[in-house]
Amino acid sequence: MIILGIESSCDETGVALVEDGRQLLANGLASSMDIHANYGGVIPEFAARSHIEVILPLIDNVLSEFAEAKNISNPWQKIDGIAVTYGAGLSGSLLVGVMTARTLAILKKKPLYPVNHVEAHVYANFLLDKKPQFPLLALIVSGGHSQLVYFRNHFDYSLIGQTVDDAVGEAFDKVARICGLPYPGGPNIALAAKAGNPRSIQLPKAKVDGEYNFSFSGLKTAVLRASQALVGADYRLESTKLPERLSVSQKADIAASFQKVAMETLVEKTLKAYEEYQPKSVVIAGGVAANQELRRQLSEALPLELQYAPINLCTDNGAMVATLGCYMAEQGGLEVSPYELQINPNLKM
Ligand code: KG4
Ligand code: ZN
Repeated sequence: MIILGIESSCDETGVALVEDGRQLLANGLASSMDIHANYGGVIPEFAARSHIEVILPLIDNVLSEFAEAKNISNPWQKIDGIAVTYGAGLSGSLLVGVMTARTLAILKKKPLYPVNHVEAHVYANFLLDKKPQFPLLALIVSGGHSQLVYFRNHFDYSLIGQTVDDAVGEAFDKVARICGLPYPGGPNIALAAKAGNPRSIQLPKAKVDGEYNFSFSGLKTAVLRASQALVGADYRLESTKLPERLSVSQKADIAASFQKVAMETLVEKTLKAYEEYQPKSVVIAGGVAANQELRRQLSEALPLELQYAPINLCTDNGAMVATLGCYMAEQGGLEVSPYELQINPNLKM
């Protein structure tokens, strides 16, 4: 069973071929991140335009790579279906992937599988040598989501906790702006944090309703206030003035202190959920799962081996979409009409 996966929900165009939900045959990625870097966040129109430019060449590349490796002339003969992210995400971006997948499904007469982006993040872990076991606890942390999800089996899951305001990746991106670091903030904050003292700035951990819910908006504001105080100003100093007034070492301390508290929040709730639900596997997924401090803290806290994908499969990619598509195809009855599939920018788990 070979599935072509297409991902275009945000600023990354991903195309991949996965066999039987565990073997990555070809993987292509293009990103418009460089364009957004100067703006402190993704500009939806630029992202959509970039998807349009790269999606067909990317599909061609992935198919040629596969055909070459298998020494075949028509790769479509070997492809059993097409999986595409139809939500959640930016409308213009999602439309490009969905319209491409619908057109290909009609032309090539392949079944079409509609994929939930957040659920797909978890499936990057099924490409690991050691496959996750059910019941499975997943901490899904990205630029748009912070969720704890308990999977009894494929397609049988419950959302047990989520952020009540900002996603953790969004908080990373905002703190990066305070420090004058470019988008995406996560990797840049993580890098700056290496030179900082994580205990230098006292930051609060939010109290929220709901045992497994998160909140990051208060933390972000606390970072802003602490940064203003560091340069001897009060709350009236605009955040855009901070990058030029903070020293390199102050920025490193802010990054390290913020990262420590943000990750402790995630780890505490995940550990609590582990203790209550007693899953056989715990995985982290989504862009923030690339964070080494999160991996370190959570690995230390959990009594079982924490599972996570390599960094290029934690951030948005086509492989996770193709992998979930394989399980949907295997399950049966989950394909949709290529004449009817619509995007759903606000799709929930
Ligand atoms: O999953 P993803 O690629 O896109 C969404 O679905 O949102 O996640 C992107 C998010 C961004 O907010 C980025 O700052 C964050 O993941 N991120 C990280 C790291 N790498 C990416 N956050 C913390 N540490 C990292 N190393
Ligand atoms: Zn994502």
